[in-house]
Amino acid sequence: MNPFQRRDGILHAEGVSLEDIARRFGTPCYVYSRAALTAAFQGYGQALAGREALVCFAVKANSNLAVLNIFARLGAGFDIVSGGELARVLAAGGDPGKVVFSGVGKSVPEMRLALGHGILCFNVESAAELDRLNAVAGEMGRRAPVSLRVNPDVDPKTHPYISTGLKTSKFGIPYGAALELYRQARRLPHLEIRGIACHIGSQLLDPAPAAEAAGRVLALVDALAAEGMALRHLDLGGGMGIRYRDEEALPAGDYLRPLLGVVAGRHERLILEPGRSLVGNAGLLLTRVGTLKPGEERSFAVVDAAMNDLARPALYDAWHDVVPVGGSGGNPRRYEIVGPICESGDFLARDRELALAEGDLLAILSAGAYGMVMSSNYNTRPRAAEVMVDGDQAHLVRRRETVDELLAGESVLPA
Ligand code: LLP
Repeated sequence: MNPFQRRDGILHAEGVSLEDIARRFGTPCYVYSRAALTAAFQGYGQALAGREALVCFAVKANSNLAVLNIFARLGAGFDIVSGGELARVLAAGGDPGKVVFSGVGKSVPEMRLALGHGILCFNVESAAELDRLNAVAGEMGRRAPVSLRVNPDVDPKTHPYISTGLKTSKFGIPYGAALELYRQARRLPHLEIRGIACHIGSQLLDPAPAAEAAGRVLALVDALAAEGMALRHLDLGGGMGIRYRDEEALPAGDYLRPLLGVVAGRHERLILEPGRSLVGNAGLLLTRVGTLKPGEERSFAVVDAAMNDLARPALYDAWHDVVPVGGSGGNPRRYEIVGPICESGDFLARDRELALAEGDLLAILSAGAYGMVMSSNYNTRPRAAEVMVDGDQAHLVRRRETVDELLAGESVLPA
């Protein structure tokens, strides 16, 4: 579903005009749709109907408490990568018993925190981590639930920065080493082997690599079972892609069909860790045109959002559609949509044909995933506000930061 539609020529989020949102909350501002978040989550629910499964939203994609709370109310679990993300899940009313902890560098305090809250599983990525977790659990008089994150060496055919399942990646345990590491894990007294995990990359459009990875994972599961290690769950990660421009992104049911075919008839519980596909198209970044700089070679529209608000274009050369919120008196031109930051890489979109006037509002689409979470305070820019629309109501779910807040933790040397 697309929650961002025009009414009387003005772009709305569900029933609320984006002009009203800009007036009330200022710009730049992230705007999310509760209905779109819900529909995306339900898409997974329908695809997985009839199967023992848990959808663990990858918190890294969008960690706003209101977003997490909506998913928690729908019964989601959560995939976290830090103690901070666990704190967010708990604050949002998430169930720690449905939390999986991924990541290549979990610290001892993070392990203690997660064990103390009784999370569902640690997805362990190395032999050293296995030993450390065993020691921490021993100190606490507990057994830590573990999966090994196995690297199936499957090419996900996506951007190299977000491919994680290749041999050359820092993530996961090499496929050939996994069996031996499970044997070691079994000998460690404070660990309890629960499952197996894998995640091959992000923004995957072709469903075949995920299905191929699932097949490789199952071969390992069978080898483990032959040695008496029966697993309770298969965590097959996230990665389903979305449409940013003209990509043929499949609905969840179609994307998951080949993978579900591979695991059909298996008794293990299926866990998925989608991030982008649950939130990406449910959010946009609202920004106002400050200055127009028409030029011979290139024309620039300097807007009040920048690479510190949305890093994806600068970082990955990612495409986000840019659409005017209302009509405008300007003449159409090809614009570079840039921010006020002192870097040539500070662009949000390049070479877009738009009719613009100063003061116009623009919506940068598909910004619900890896948008606000990757924002920074570069150039001492307070981070944007976040607004959740629910029907005809707009709720401020994170107020804009202030410069005072940015300075609050700092001090100068004594005189
Ligand atoms: N599980 C694990 C272990 C992950 O590493 C990731 C994403 C996910 C789940 C969620 O993947 P998703 O369903 O969102 O594709 N900042 C980049 C994306 C980085 C993805 C990192 N890992 C971007 O803006 O495209």
